[in-house]
Order: sequence, then C-alpha cells, then structure tokens
Amino acid sequence: MNDHASSVDALARRALEEVAASGDLAALDDVRVRWLGKKGTLTEQLKQLGSLPPAERPAAGQRINEAKQTLQAAIEARREALERARVEQELLSGRVDVTLPGRGEERGGLHPVTRARMRIEALFRRAGFDVAEGPEIEDDFHNFEALNIPADHPARAMHDTFYFPDGKLLRTHTSPVQIRALISRGAPLAVIAPGRVYRSDSDVTHTPMFHQVEGLVVGENVSLANMRAILHGFVQAFFERDLKMRLRPSYFPFVEPGAEVDMSCVFCDGAGCRICKHTGWLEISGCGMVHPHVLKASGVDPERFTGYAFGMGIDRLAMLRYGVNDLRLLFENDLRLLQQFRAF
Ligand code: PHE
Repeated sequence: MNDHASSVDALARRALEEVAASGDLAALDDVRVRWLGKKGTLTEQLKQLGSLPPAERPAAGQRINEAKQTLQAAIEARREALERARVEQELLSGRVDVTLPGRGEERGGLHPVTRARMRIEALFRRAGFDVAEGPEIEDDFHNFEALNIPADHPARAMHDTFYFPDGKLLRTHTSPVQIRALISRGAPLAVIAPGRVYRSDSDVTHTPMFHQVEGLVVGENVSLANMRAILHGFVQAFFERDLKMRLRPSYFPFVEPGAEVDMSCVFCDGAGCRICKHTGWLEISGCGMVHPHVLKASGVDPERFTGYAFGMGIDRLAMLRYGVNDLRLLFENDLRLLQQFRAF
C-alpha cells in the first residue's frame, strides 16, 4: 500500500469513528459536513489529486470515492439508528396525550345542496315516500327508450347527453330511476330519487353536473289532483312559507298530460322582481301523469294502475332557500361560501 492509500485509509477510519461517536442528529450532520461537505476533508482529497503523479491518479481517485461511499452509507445507517432511538425515546416518555383536544379545530358544515337534499328527503319521507337510487352511468333503455323517448325522438336533442364509447351514458335526468323502481318494486309505490345528473351544457345558469330529485307515485286511482296537493304541500313545507303554486301545461314524452310547476317568487311574493324576471313566478319542476308506455315498459299494467311523476332541480331549490344568487358558487367549493353553512 503506498503512502497515499494508507493516508486515505487512515482518514476514512477516523471519519467512521466520528460517525459512530455522534450522539445525536445534529452532531452526525456536523460530521457529514466536515468530511463530505463542499470543503470536507475527503472532498479536499479529491481536489488534491492533481498533485499526484498521473499514473497514480485513477487508483487514488477510486480509493477516495470508495471511502466517501462507505462513509455516506455509515452516516445513513447512523441517522436511521438515531432517528429510531429518538422516536422510541418519545414513545417511552409518553408525551403524547391522545385525549387532548386538537388545536385549531374548526366546525364543519353541510354543503347547501346536501342540506336541501336532506330536507327534501325528510319532507317526502314524512309523506310516505321511500328514497330510491339509480346509477349515474345509465344505458339507453333506462334513460330514454323506456321513458317513451325512442332513438329518433326530437326530445333527445334537448338532453345534450354525454356518451361513453360503449354506448352507455351519464344520466341526463333522474327519470331513469322511475323505470328501475317500477321494475324492481312494482306497483303500488311512492318513491323519490335524488341524485346527480349530467348535461353537456355550461353557462351562467347551467353546470354540466347538477342535482335533481325525481318523484314517482303509482297506484290504483292516483290522480293529478293528488300530485298537485303533494307538490304544493312540499313547496310550502320546504320554504316554510305560504306560497302559491300553479301548473302550466308542458311536454315531456314520459308523461301525459305534462306540466311545469311554478311557485310564487320567494323574493317578491309574486309582485315581480329581477329573480323571477318580473313574472312573479319561479319554475321549479317538471311533472305529469305517467305515460302508459312507461308503465308498460316497466311491467306495470296501465289498465289497472295510474301514477304521477315529477322532477325538480335541487340546486335551484337550495339557492332559493339559502339565498345563493349564482349557481356556479355551489360547485366552486370556495370556503368563504361553505363557511356560511357551518353547523352552529
Ligand atoms: N326529467 C325531466 C327533466 O329532466 C323532468 C320531469 C320528471 C318531468 C318527471 C316530468 C316528470 O326535465
């Protein structure tokens, strides 16, 4: 072993001794900087290679690098050992009192749409309805075909449907749950089905995802008057106000007759304002008597049973009840909005 080699070996041994002797992480880091840092002893050795005869430089350089690597590994191992010891020490000293309350704890709250949905569910449950569910990824049969909207029906164009490559789609309304509920439960039944729906549509008053709640009541002698009474009762209970309601004839392929539900404007009490576009009325729901084709497609005898259905926008109801004036606020998750709905 030549002189250079033995001096590098000696340095490396000293360095390793220092690593073994360092009692905490700070001391260990000191050792690292002193030996391996930019101006560390071993780093300096590399810089001095130039002073050796050219023939000795490769072997010497390799030796220094090996020494650096060995040292690096030793430091890592020591660091792990010290850290483990520190954690164990902490655990032993039992300083963590898991029963203490957390710091900076803030009260959470429910999103206004969730609040509206829960309120709607509670009110309809009280009136004897069950809550039903269906998938957000639907097929053509449930979203369209069984709802009396065949492939070439112009109503399809109004739905701005998101399709998947395999022909499935994101449901454009909660009405497919009518079909699923009728097929799985049969008549008579009374269900509501709240959930997300999707349409390729985005502007000030439309978001590509929004929420609807479907209602469906099928039985013997179910009438349009029953529907009117239930809807009016719901509106009054939801807003806790003596609001007027009216049905305006409208068209949906899956009901006959079909109507649009208007309630008197909650902001101006029907006098006319910006929110109701000076009509005094707010449109909140589509509805109608279930079309015989729909009953038949779901295996229910239309000679024996009749029914009504409605589909309301939950987001709209939430905005009206909680005074949110821009639909987009509901979906931006801005804490400044959400904090206003904290539990008290
Ligand atoms: N599905 C209709 C829509 O999304 C609403 C509706 C439901 C109308 C039930 C009538 C009966 O516009």
